Amino acid sequence: MSINWFPGHMAKARREIEENLKKVDVVIEILDARIPHSSHNPMLDEITQHKPRVVVLNKVDMADKQATDAWMAKFKSEGKYPVALDGRNNQIIKRIEPLAIRATAEIFERMQKKGIGRRAIRAMITGIPNVGKSTVINNVAKRKIAKTGNTPGVTKQQQWIKAGEQMELLDTPGILWPKFEDEITGKKLSLTGAIKDTVVPLDEVAIYGIEFLLTHDPARFNAFYNINVSESDDVVDVFDAIGRSRGLKAGGNEINYEAVTNRVIYDIRNGKIGSYTFDEADA
Ligand code: G4P
Repeated sequence: MSINWFPGHMAKARREIEENLKKVDVVIEILDARIPHSSHNPMLDEITQHKPRVVVLNKVDMADKQATDAWMAKFKSEGKYPVALDGRNNQIIKRIEPLAIRATAEIFERMQKKGIGRRAIRAMITGIPNVGKSTVINNVAKRKIAKTGNTPGVTKQQQWIKAGEQMELLDTPGILWPKFEDEITGKKLSLTGAIKDTVVPLDEVAIYGIEFLLTHDPARFNAFYNINVSESDDVVDVFDAIGRSRGLKAGGNEINYEAVTNRVIYDIRNGKIGSYTFDEADA
C-alpha cells in the first residue's frame, strides 16, 4: 500500500518518529537490500543523531549477493550495525538481537556505572513503505500486529513486544516517506515496489529495468524471455521481442505495450528474472 506524501504527512510522520525516539535506545532501520541508498530517507539521520542504528538489509533473497556484501561493509564503516536477511524467515530475531545488544553496549555500561539497574533494550523499527516493516514486526512478535497502514497519524495504542531475550520492540513502526532525489531514484523505488504505480510513468520504469538488465545480465534476460536482443537495440524492438515471445498482443499482430510494461515490471519486482541490486555501495 502506498499513499501520496504531502508536506503535512511528512511533518506528522517526522513528529511521530521523534516522539518514539525518546522511548528507545536503538533504531532498527529497514532498507530494501536491492536499493539501500534509494530506500533510505536521510531525514532519519537528522533526527536520530547519535542514536545507535541497526540496519536491516531486507529482501536479501532478491538482491545481488556481492552488492549486499559491499553495502554491509559500507554500513559497518559508518559505525552502523548492518544485517542482511529475509524478513519472512522466522529466525530473524536471532540475527537482529545480538546487533542491538552490541549497538547499545556503551549506553548500558554508562547506566550501570551510574548504578542504574539493567532493563530491556528498547528498539523501534523504521522504514519507507513496503520494505518489510510489518513482516519483520509480525515475525518477531510471532503474531499479527494490527496494521495501521503506511499512513502516519493513524494512532493506536502502542505496545512493547518482547523481542528475543533482552529486547523490547515498539509494535508500531516509524513510517518514513520515499525520498525522490532524482528521476532514477523514483524509477528504482517503483521497480522494487516501494512506490506504487501512479507516481512514476510505468513505461519509463520498465525501460529503466530493461536497460539495467541488458547492461548487467543480458544472457539471463534473453534466456528468461526467450529472445535475442542487446544493449544496442532500440528499446521498442526489445518490447516487441518480449511481446511476441510472451504472446502479449493487442489484437491482430500488434504488440500490447502496456501488457509488456506490466509484465517486465512484475518480473523484476518479484525477482523472477534474477537477484539484482540497483544501488551501488561505492557510488
Ligand atoms: P511494510 O510494512 O514496510 O509496508 O512492508 P510489508 O511488511 O507489508 O512487506 C511488503 C511486501 O514485501 C510483502 O509482500 C512481504 O511479504 C514482502 N517481504 C517482506 N520481507 C521480504 C523478504 O525478505 N523477501 C521477500 N521476497 N519479500 C519480503 P506481499 O504480502 O506480497 O505484500 P504486497 O505486495 O501485497 O504489499
